[in-house]
Amino acid sequence: MAKQRVLSLVQPTGNLHLGNYLGAIRNWVEGQSQYENFFGVADLHAITVPHNPATLASDTYTIAALYLACGTDLEYTNIFVQSHVSAHSELTWLFNCITPLNWLEDMIQFKEKALKQGENVSAGLLDYPVLMASDILLYQADKVPVGEDQKQHLELTRDIAARFNHQFARKKPVLKLPEPLIRAEGARVMSLTDGTRKMSKSDPSEMSRINLLDSPDAIAKKIKRCKTDLVRGLTFDDSERPECHNLLTLYMLLSGKKKEEVATECQDMGWGQFKPLLTETAIASLKPIQEKYQAVMDDKGYLESVLRDGREKAEAIANDTLAKVKAALGYSVPL
Ligand code: TYM
Repeated sequence: MAKQRVLSLVQPTGNLHLGNYLGAIRNWVEGQSQYENFFGVADLHAITVPHNPATLASDTYTIAALYLACGTDLEYTNIFVQSHVSAHSELTWLFNCITPLNWLEDMIQFKEKALKQGENVSAGLLDYPVLMASDILLYQADKVPVGEDQKQHLELTRDIAARFNHQFARKKPVLKLPEPLIRAEGARVMSLTDGTRKMSKSDPSEMSRINLLDSPDAIAKKIKRCKTDLVRGLTFDDSERPECHNLLTLYMLLSGKKKEEVATECQDMGWGQFKPLLTETAIASLKPIQEKYQAVMDDKGYLESVLRDGREKAEAIANDTLAKVKAALGYSVPL
């Protein structure tokens, strides 16, 4: 039986942080041998907010290298760049014409990001979830591992697929409805400076996140200064103590220990004892990723060959779906 297909992408906006790693990439990598996987760099999404053309290409390479550094195995997984496969843009246009505008206006991320952009909201920002639906549906993905913040976009993807099948392919559905894969733990890693907000690349404060490529000194400084509380003894799941829950969860995920184990280990600790422990654990778990990243970046030719192979595999599948969608919509075949 053919393996199920897993697909996910990350935007190349700046560095990856622990939220991206624990909420998404680590989960893709863990299960990869059971599936046929496509991990993409969403560089078309990256320009839905103002971007820097001087760093877009290098940021794209950074993310692809980090996929490899985090343990992507090319025996099971293809790494590709979204803009290298033109079917993504083309399918987005076709889906634009069948997606009701009010579905897009209801998206929480759009509303939040649009607030931040003020006058400068592009049509692309509103359209972002349609591009994301195209990313997923082009590959007929069975499962899409993401963090909690992408859940609504996945529901929209399923709605677009169902609408398309219903309107244009009722007898023989063209698009597969994907399942989101959202883990209970790590699906929402919170900011180090405010335990009620998610860790995010767009937070103006560097102190709010730990990046995968942060030096040991930077990690130590961020954890030393992170927000805590005045209560002695550390506990999970206390809604009055969001920072405590977040930092214990980070420790649990980075150390690989079980929740009960961490709860017992830390129940009598104060912050002065816990913070060095978390620092040490974070530095040790990021070290192998940082070393592998450097090795990949030192061999640009290798990285390019990985992306070339990934693009070829991605293109074959994406173009096949695109052709089926166009046929269902009634397009003529180019002569
Ligand atoms: P992006 O680049 O914002 O985030 C990449 C992945 O990291 C997850 N994530 C988090 N998980 C836990 N805690 C956090 N604080 C946190 N912050 C981010 C995100 O849920 C995501 O899984 N639109 C997507 C990229 C995308 C995509 C796709 C994903 C484009 N096309 C198709 C899946 C399938 C995005 O901007 O993710």
